[in-house]
Amino acid sequence: MSLYIKSVGHYTPPRRLSNKDLESMVDTNDEWITSRTGIRERAIADKGVGTADMAYHASVQALEEAGMDAKEMDGIVCATCTPDMTMPGASSHLQRKLGGAEVAAFDVNAACSGFIYGLDVVDGMLASGRYENILLACADKFTSTINYNDRGTCILFGDGAGSLVLSSKPGGPKLSALYTGGNGQLTNLLHRPGGGSLLPFDECEDKDELYVQMIGNQVFKHAVRGMGLSATETLKRAGWDKSEVDWLIPHQANRRLIDAAMDRLGLAPERVVVNIEKYGNMSAASIPVALNEAKGQFKPGDKILCVAFGSGFTWGGAAIEWA
Ligand code: COA
Repeated sequence: MSLYIKSVGHYTPPRRLSNKDLESMVDTNDEWITSRTGIRERAIADKGVGTADMAYHASVQALEEAGMDAKEMDGIVCATCTPDMTMPGASSHLQRKLGGAEVAAFDVNAACSGFIYGLDVVDGMLASGRYENILLACADKFTSTINYNDRGTCILFGDGAGSLVLSSKPGGPKLSALYTGGNGQLTNLLHRPGGGSLLPFDECEDKDELYVQMIGNQVFKHAVRGMGLSATETLKRAGWDKSEVDWLIPHQANRRLIDAAMDRLGLAPERVVVNIEKYGNMSAASIPVALNEAKGQFKPGDKILCVAFGSGFTWGGAAIEWA
């Protein structure tokens, strides 16, 4: 591993959508949502705000914290499944907003596993020796894909961004191990079928095809397995026993999924970073936002395990040694 974390920044939109608000929109209630998901409210980006706008705010914060200028970045990678436009990538829009040098800018789409896949890609770039500093922006305006008449999906998701300045130059928290996995046989359990090349938006017969569709209870079972596998494999690669883990930062999709990952590792609840109650599932942004909110509690040498799962299916884990 050749990757050091120089800084982290995050942004969540100020507008909130509460469970009470949702009660007036679909046939649901606060008690059902809270007990099944752990979510109480979500941050929602306004109309006219794109993924790159949120990524910009998070990135400015990360650059400031690193004491670096956008000009010093040798590349910009944006992990997102909700780019501002299908072309060019959110990374190019972010580059336009940030300014900086004429360097590589591209997106990685691994849905809710975007942070882990993004780290994997950036680690490879840094290891090549051709890049020294890379900005990884993990951002999704997931609510732009949601049908607010579908109670099975609209209760779950929110918007946000988390950015990291990553470098091959030693110093700061270090990536100790990384694992990614996936299974493309199950794409239909969580997908947004319309608006791509297979079913362009003007060929959609049903408007629902333009929204995210999900078979929630089946996704749940695969997510338990994927997050568990990610924890086991990442720990194996890091050479850490599960008893050595100081902090678990799981993808924030459902409180019950987080609890399943926590129980598997035998961790006490105070060792698990959870912010799902105030943001919902922010897709690729969820782990970096949680990381940034919790980092004040971390001590040098702490062993941090991040695990994610998302549409694809994609999954994976990262082991980080804090400094
Ligand atoms: N409010 C009230 N009732 C709801 C509801 C809502 N928002 N959404 C679904 N229901 C109903 C269903 O219609 C069903 O009713 P029925 O028994 O009369 O048919 C019942 O609740 C149970 O549905 P089910 O889908 O089995 O519930 P669940 O316990 O699995 O919870 C999810 C649903 C979506 C919360 C849960 O499956 C989940 O979180 N899955 C993972 C989704 C996810 O994380 N996706 C992103 C991965 S990165």
